[in-house]
Amino acid sequence: MGGTRQQILAMMIEKGDDFVSGEEISRKLGLSRTAVWKHIEELRREGYQIEARQRSGYRLVCIPDRILQEEITRNLSTRSFGRALRTLKTVDSTQMVAHQWAQEGAPEGAAVISEEQTAGRGRLGRSWHSPPGSGIWMSLILRPPIPIARAPQLTLMASVGITRALQRETCLPVRIKWPNDLLIRDKKVCGILTELRGEQDRVHYVVLGAGINVNIGVEAWPPDLREKVTSLSTEAGRTFRRSPLIAAILEELEKIYEQYLHQGFSTIRKEWERLSGILGRPVTARNPDGEMTGIARGLNEDGALLLETEGGLTPVYSAEISAGCETRPF
Ligand code: BTN
Repeated sequence: MGGTRQQILAMMIEKGDDFVSGEEISRKLGLSRTAVWKHIEELRREGYQIEARQRSGYRLVCIPDRILQEEITRNLSTRSFGRALRTLKTVDSTQMVAHQWAQEGAPEGAAVISEEQTAGRGRLGRSWHSPPGSGIWMSLILRPPIPIARAPQLTLMASVGITRALQRETCLPVRIKWPNDLLIRDKKVCGILTELRGEQDRVHYVVLGAGINVNIGVEAWPPDLREKVTSLSTEAGRTFRRSPLIAAILEELEKIYEQYLHQGFSTIRKEWERLSGILGRPVTARNPDGEMTGIARGLNEDGALLLETEGGLTPVYSAEISAGCETRPF
């Protein structure tokens, strides 16, 4: 969208339910009244519903669900998360853009969000389905002063933060599945991918990627995914505006990150256990070394999953988890 239209939009968003006069727009942006009118018409063609009233001006009635930097910022009450923000229409992967940006010196809390990813990446080299206009595909840059060994705790911390935000905004029963999935009624609604660069036991920076399925209908999923995944809209029976959701997620992530830095992992661990959807359930953990079945009991201080097996309480540091003794996903 052109810069002038962005500015007009920002002025209307700023006014909320009030009108902004044509005179104010033309004065602030140095445009003729006819030029203002033409830009308003163009915005309408792009899907914005704008009420025009004589002697009052223009008022934004309805915004198409695009990820808008102004709308995110307007809803944001964070100190640093999302304050540096890149919103893109399409990209291979927001992770790649964020890595590049981090290497160029992006501040902590800088975020990259795209309407679409053409090569979204998931855990274990998998791809991540990221269709346009229907999800939150976001990468956040962190610079935590922690040793590399503690980095897996960041994924668990982010699971709690995003769960808090989604529960708060949607009232849906979001639960955490170790290590990096959020589920609703046992189907995946969000995946988290934590990638780090470090040297000599010191984290240089972390790119925390989150993919959240927001307004994706069942029919839009590839057939092989339909049984395993869901979206907020499918579960709630209504759609959600993504920009306020993004603001809520950034807020909760900043809150929990500060909690993590100041109070350590143990308070987060307790909340993770409360929000977990697998504790007390029999699960099978598989990794390249083999598989183990037991009852999921909690997390240890490192963030490893504690499985109660015949041999006692065993920590699992890296694995894929499935329900019971079968290979079906949660
Ligand atoms: C997983 O469950 O395997 C993790 C999925 C992570 C997907 C997100 S979408 C935003 C960011 N960009 C990517 O390419 N991947 C992450």
